[in-house]
Amino acid sequence: MLSSPLPNPLRVLLAVVLLPLAAHAYFQVTSPSKGVQWANNQTYPISWSKGLFDGVDTFDLELSRLGTDGLVFVAKDVPSYTGTLNVALQNVPPADDYFLLFLNSTHGVMYGNSQQFSIAATGTNNASAPQPDGSKPTVTVSGGPNPTAVFATTFPPSSNGAFGWMAVSGTMAHVVALTSVATIGLMSGAWMVL
Ligand SMILES: *[C@@H]1O[C@H](CO)[C@@H](O)[C@H](O)[C@H]1NC(C)=O
Ligand SMILES: *[C@@H]1O[C@H](CO)[C@@H](O)[C@H](O)[C@H]1NC(C)=O
Ligand SMILES: *[C@@H]1O[C@H](CO)[C@@H](O)[C@H](O)[C@H]1NC(C)=O
Repeated sequence: MLSSPLPNPLRVLLAVVLLPLAAHAYFQVTSPSKGVQWANNQTYPISWSKGLFDGVDTFDLELSRLGTDGLVFVAKDVPSYTGTLNVALQNVPPADDYFLLFLNSTHGVMYGNSQQFSIAATGTNNASAPQPDGSKPTVTVSGGPNPTAVFATTFPPSSNGAFGWMAVSGTMAHVVALTSVATIGLMSGAWMVL
């Protein structure tokens, strides 16, 4: 976990500047989509699609805001093959500048981020917002950023770990992905000490 999270503008900059380096390590967040409005006391799907052979078997999920410092730790060690994770919102401060970060919080490597979206007060839910997927795990997020908070949910180790090493072409992709992850890790390490 990051003991002193970067200010959000830096994190965003980091994501924007460094993600293209990992462009071949495909990771796309499909929900929440840009500008969608979520509401407290409701459950929504977080969905992503990613390259099979990128070596990203698990990730940590954090909720962040563009205009305000602080992170909400959503879930740790999310198995990436599930593709969707539902999140139940409780007492999250309403704002329109939220985004989700998909990363390894141990060394700060960012895999992807959602588009900006809003979270509104209880009772203002948008009936046409995407519905949760009942076949996927649900985590609960309660309250706003809290520097002393820990991840609300930690997923147990999964046996679905070795995907990237299966095929010969997959091995090549894995090596390339690891190289770029290592590069990003070094660079974000440099950011960490700032
Ligand atoms: C949240 O939802 C539950 C069940 O859907 C409901 O009983 C409760 O009153 C709601 N809470 C608020 C603050 O609206
Ligand atoms: C983050 O990276 C460390 C070291 O490579 C690894 O042990 C850990 O499992 C990773 N965490 C996640 C959520 O993938
Ligand atoms: C409701 O959700 C739909 C689909 O995500 C979106 O197009 C629309 O703008 C939303 N309306 C409001 C008021 O958030």
